[in-house]
Amino acid sequence: MSETTTATASTLYDRLGRRDGITRITHELMKNHLANPLVNTRYSQIKDMDQTERNVVDFFCAGSGGPNTYAGKDMLNTHRGMNIDEQEFVSVIDDAMAALTTCGVEPPVRNEVLGVLWSMKAEVVRV
Ligand code: HEM
Repeated sequence: MSETTTATASTLYDRLGRRDGITRITHELMKNHLANPLVNTRYSQIKDMDQTERNVVDFFCAGSGGPNTYAGKDMLNTHRGMNIDEQEFVSVIDDAMAALTTCGVEPPVRNEVLGVLWSMKAEVVRV
């Protein structure tokens, strides 16, 4: 574990290990989604997974206080019309928590991410 993943660094971006850390976490996240029977049909339909993965990395870098900009669609427009339910939402968050654990992110930082993800529920579920 590098010192940038401790709870004392200045931004969540730092605590997640900056762009390198967030890239590794996102890769684990996508692997978890594809292996998760509750959501894998959603993600196996993505045409350009590399592009989506890059957008997700940019999204988390920009949203956690990093210097990067996010050029993808906003959360409402990304998920509008997918009819995502509560079980899928929780399941995707479970995948995210597992990816953070795999990447050695400590519990207080995982809980911060949990709060951030949960706050986006209204832009993702049944929109
Ligand atoms: C807080 C929870 C979530 C966040 C932060 C999030 C974030 C994102 C981001 C940043 C993208 C990339 C957008 C782009 O490429 O322009 C994306 C795409 C996608 N998300 Fe989510 N997502 C969440 C929950 C979910 C859930 C619960 C599902 C369904 C089970 C889902 C399914 C998808 C799919 C299928 C795509 C690809 C869309 C496409 O190819 O255009 N997401 N998400």
